[in-house]
Amino acid sequence: MASPTSLHPISGQPKQPDIPYHPDEAKWRARTARRLAEDPCLPSTPLPEGFPKRLIGPLVWEGEQWADESLWAYSLSEEELQEIDRAVRHFEDSGRPLTQVDRTTFPLPKLSHTLHSLTIELYAGRGFFVLRSIPTGLYTPYQNTLIYLGLSAHIAPTIASQDPANGSMLGHITDLRSKDENGSSGAPAYMNVSQPFHSDPGDVVSLFALGEAEEGGESKIASAWWVYNELAETRPDLVKVLAEPFPLEMFNRDPPYQLRPFLFKCPHDDRIIIQNARRLCTGFEGLPRSPSVPPLTEAQAEAIDALHFLAEKHCVRMKLRTGDIQYVSNLGLFHAREGFVDSPQKKRHLLRLWQRNEELAWPTPPALEERFKVLFKKVPVEKQRFPLEPDIRSISRGRGLDAKAKRA
Ligand SMILES: [Fe+2]
Repeated sequence: MASPTSLHPISGQPKQPDIPYHPDEAKWRARTARRLAEDPCLPSTPLPEGFPKRLIGPLVWEGEQWADESLWAYSLSEEELQEIDRAVRHFEDSGRPLTQVDRTTFPLPKLSHTLHSLTIELYAGRGFFVLRSIPTGLYTPYQNTLIYLGLSAHIAPTIASQDPANGSMLGHITDLRSKDENGSSGAPAYMNVSQPFHSDPGDVVSLFALGEAEEGGESKIASAWWVYNELAETRPDLVKVLAEPFPLEMFNRDPPYQLRPFLFKCPHDDRIIIQNARRLCTGFEGLPRSPSVPPLTEAQAEAIDALHFLAEKHCVRMKLRTGDIQYVSNLGLFHAREGFVDSPQKKRHLLRLWQRNEELAWPTPPALEERFKVLFKKVPVEKQRFPLEPDIRSISRGRGLDAKAKRA
């Protein structure tokens, strides 16, 4: 039988497998070959009890199906843009704060029906869409934030806090290294490097492009359900591994790690949720995985690489242009991005929300209930913040940044 973990050559203690944040295909293939050579029976492992042999439905797709952008990109008409503009004036005239943006305070009498149909695509269709093209240059940063919150309120109105430490409900995804004397946060979201396939927290992640990079930054989306089917057919042992708990590094939180699977089955039906938390398995730059967190097994290392490389093989690629808003399911899809280069004239800058539509939400698996409850726990209105300027999330600060914050 294969050894379940790597052992340190001198101490003989279990050690973290050689698995970097940025996936290395040669290492993945070598690990796969080694494990299958050690135990050729692995592909005969039965699927975990209750897990489907095959997922079916519109969420199972391959990237080539979406080569025609008109299938998933919805271009807002001049009439719809005028409706949005009227909603902006209406909200501003009311004098309300951004914490009070909702379907009534940001009314979209006609467009709301289209947005509802698109939202059904998120929960019961292909799992993604892009709204094009909001004329961001006509609006102030405050008004662009208002438009994003207003449209999102008609799509998936429950918003998760992205930084419970300071009540921030809105993220800025942009390269902040020039503002950081340490030159490295613990999260690639605040750098210009590529991000491998992963899931964000919550049902839906959305990104509003306020600026494009000079070069690169392509967005990639893949069907996690397609990946599941591929693994269930060829490597059911890895489905079993993914359905069992992983020791996930919690970085600046208490407790310092959690045991949580990647795969969850919804109660009452065959739907599968894949929460792909690669960075919590590998660590990254300013936030490396702590040696005090139990190491992954070799099987877990192979499984998380398999998720990435299968997703990469069958993903859809898209360029987010300034004025686009991309909405993506976190339940049945993975997302990733290419690295990018900014210039003095062109800087990649996205706003981000984590969202949920309570009416359309999937039944929450019992093992995820606590996590979702905490995530979407109502932050008291007086504590909610919608920062117009980019900042790094408290829990994404690298060790250097954290120490600096404590000194300040
Ligand atoms: Fe993400």
